[in-house]
Amino acid sequence: MFRPILLLLFLLLCKNITSSQSLPLSTNTNWIVDETGRRVKLTCVNWPSHIETMLAEGLDKQPLGFIASQVVHQQFNCIRLTWATYMFTRMDYGRLTVEESFDRQNLTEAKAGITKHNPHLLHMTLLQAFDTVVDVLGAYGLMVLLDNHVSHPTWCCSESDGNGFFNDQYFDPEEWQNGLTTVAKRFRGKLQVIGIGMRNELRGPQGNVDDWYRYVPEAAKQIHKANPDVLVFMSGISYATDLSFLKDRPLGFNLDNKLVFETHLYAFTAEPDKDWLEKPVNEVCGTRIKALDDKIGFVTTGDNPAPLVLTEVGVNQQNFSASHNRFLSCFQAYVAQRDLDWGLWALQGGYYTRENKTGADEEFGLLDINWNRVRNPTIQKRLELAKTKTQDPASITSAAYVLYHPRSGTCLRTKGEKIYAGSCKTRSRWIHDAEEAPIRLMYTNVCIKAVGDGFGPILSTECLSPQSTWKLTSNSTHHLAVRDERGEYLCLHMEPSNEIVTRRCICVGDDPRCLDDPTTQWFQFALRNV
Ligand SMILES: *[C@@H]1O[C@H](CO)[C@@H](O)[C@H](O)[C@H]1NC(C)=O
Ligand SMILES: *[C@@H]1O[C@H](CO)[C@@H](O)[C@H](O)[C@H]1NC(C)=O
Ligand SMILES: *[C@@H]1O[C@H](CO)[C@@H](O)[C@H](O)[C@H]1NC(C)=O
Ligand SMILES: *[C@@H]1O[C@H](CO)[C@@H](O)[C@H](O)[C@H]1NC(C)=O
Repeated sequence: MFRPILLLLFLLLCKNITSSQSLPLSTNTNWIVDETGRRVKLTCVNWPSHIETMLAEGLDKQPLGFIASQVVHQQFNCIRLTWATYMFTRMDYGRLTVEESFDRQNLTEAKAGITKHNPHLLHMTLLQAFDTVVDVLGAYGLMVLLDNHVSHPTWCCSESDGNGFFNDQYFDPEEWQNGLTTVAKRFRGKLQVIGIGMRNELRGPQGNVDDWYRYVPEAAKQIHKANPDVLVFMSGISYATDLSFLKDRPLGFNLDNKLVFETHLYAFTAEPDKDWLEKPVNEVCGTRIKALDDKIGFVTTGDNPAPLVLTEVGVNQQNFSASHNRFLSCFQAYVAQRDLDWGLWALQGGYYTRENKTGADEEFGLLDINWNRVRNPTIQKRLELAKTKTQDPASITSAAYVLYHPRSGTCLRTKGEKIYAGSCKTRSRWIHDAEEAPIRLMYTNVCIKAVGDGFGPILSTECLSPQSTWKLTSNSTHHLAVRDERGEYLCLHMEPSNEIVTRRCICVGDDPRCLDDPTTQWFQFALRNV
């Protein structure tokens, strides 16, 4: 059992993978920071270990270390590893061996896969296997957020699965709190465990604010007492989308700078998926973000700001539909603007078993069904900036904007007087200091000037003309528009060839019948000081 780990450590040293942050983490206003005060941006991937088998998915397909290395390779720095309460509170769950657990579910083929790819796990108890997963993730420099996903191990989440709210069929509040403190204590001293997620997506007909106050604040304090190192991730009601009750009844504590809030965001969060196709996209993006800020985002501002982590964000990466494509642009712009921490749903290419289906595929998965390849490399490339820390309160570099095009995941760059879209790694830095103002290249006297419909904008010293005065417009505020010589609006636009031009603005007015896709014209100024 020891040797594979030693070999792994040796390989890691050879590959020079080390974690760059000094743990544990804590909070400083709305930022998560490390021991030295430097900001750490969490970019997590969700990895379920809470379904019937209670073993992290995919270990029948690839070795544990290989899966961890894929996560590192895709530039994520953290895993949101899910668990079920019963694993830690009931003898007949977590103390089963992996083999017994798979035998109980009749998962013969998956068991054979584990025997092949991760034989050392087979005769461990489920809790030992869980510990091993946490250890190996730590060895790869990954941080771990241990998320209490359900009580009774099963696929989550529906209104009626008995795991949704306090006092539902499986959700005993006292057992839940015991589970949380047990986990908090168990991982004390394992610094890669940076946080504990109190409960995934509280929901269902029983959901109510009074019970939230009855159970959640006290459990948060108990976790903090049991393990003062970890961040405590707290979420609201209605599938983690609503904390608005805190506006009138603030918590009054922040657990010695360890309290973090979390929410989830999908194309179908709170409103139907099809809105992205059947309503004006600028309005859908604008109203969804406004609702998110009203119900949750406000925790990052005001007198007692705290960090907000979007711990689940996902799209169908297999059949990447137009609606998910538009949603993804909206999310990318939001994250770039605030430089929020977030987590992708999800790592898994498939499941041992999900909702009674053996070997089910996961179309939202980062990895494909064989867990050996990235399912959709284009999407991962597009998320490059979302995975990059752009703001750090401790940085002494002067801040400037990058001009981000979410739909392509690129940033505007310059060459001579030409403006083009390229990787955000070596972006140009821009100044745009009013709602209607020139977009100036930092440390120069040149700015972006529109030439005409269908032409590329140029860098020019004429910064005060109407063709150089850019206004953020539309209901999404993601269009950058200037007036042309006839006084009509032109918007910055990316052609299918990735060429940057200006064109007539797409659906920037309030016309409810305007259903064209405006996302080719969406840009976001993202403040950057790192
Ligand atoms: C496993 O198979 C046995 C025997 O066919 C059956 O009784 C049991 O219900 C099965 N268990 C599951 C979880 O499918
Ligand atoms: C892809 O998604 C679209 C929209 O949700 C759906 O209409 C279509 O049937 C899906 N195609 C496949 C192959 O699943
Ligand atoms: C799975 O099978 C069980 C037992 O037959 C059944 O009660 C349950 O409703 C099924 N779940 C789903 C999601 O189909
Ligand atoms: C966005 O649309 C909503 C609903 O149509 C409207 O109330 C609001 O004024 C619009 N905002 C902007 C900035 O256009």
